[in-house]
Amino acid sequence: MSVGRELKLAPSILSADFNILGQQMDIMAEEGLEWVHIDVMDGAFVPQISFGMPVIKSIRKKSRLFFDVHMMVEEPARFTDMLKDCGADLVCVHAEACVHLDRTLQAIKAAGMMTGVALNPATPLCVLDYVLDKTDMVLIMSVNPGFGGQSYIHGMTKKIAALRKKLDDAGYPGIAIEVDGGVNKDTVNEVLGAGANVLVAGSAVFKNDVAENIRMFQKTFEEFKRN
Ligand code: DX5
Ligand code: ZN
Repeated sequence: MSVGRELKLAPSILSADFNILGQQMDIMAEEGLEWVHIDVMDGAFVPQISFGMPVIKSIRKKSRLFFDVHMMVEEPARFTDMLKDCGADLVCVHAEACVHLDRTLQAIKAAGMMTGVALNPATPLCVLDYVLDKTDMVLIMSVNPGFGGQSYIHGMTKKIAALRKKLDDAGYPGIAIEVDGGVNKDTVNEVLGAGANVLVAGSAVFKNDVAENIRMFQKTFEEFKRN
């Protein structure tokens, strides 16, 4: 599966109810979603610790969704082989967390997974300039990473638009743009309009009725495609 520019909703299970995680992932598949966003946090790169390989391995046994693993971890290259064993499909690393970003992306690809490069809100797009040939997706953080439920930083809208232009101008129109943080019914159109095509949503999917929330996003995507 290539990422490309199709619109996708990637619910972040950081906001799921872990007592019934399997059931909530079943709802995602029943509603026709293809992606799940998996936030791994180490308590060093970001303030919080979330979950790691044992959880990913466990949910892989029951799920056929595309596993988009967001590594909010210092030097994530250390975990490449383990992530492959756990069934990750795409590994997204933070440019700020890798001394050797190019080598890290090469290793992820060599292990047979797709690559993502995540940028914190304050990180400029130019860090991508010499790794685009090894990048399947760029993740624009629209909050400072570490917690679900934060508000979208509106200044990121022009960063998303600048990235879409940069990728087109550089001859990489197929690189996906994922946006993560504060995406909900009030911000979804702004994010789509700027040129993002993979939208992560945590609290906006898992608060109250999961199926109903997913349908709201799907309806918005359809309306966006029509206009
Ligand atoms: C934040 C994580 C996000 C988070 C998004 O550091 O990377 O994926 O779960 O949560 P919401 O959608 O609630 O902002
Ligand atoms: Zn994330």
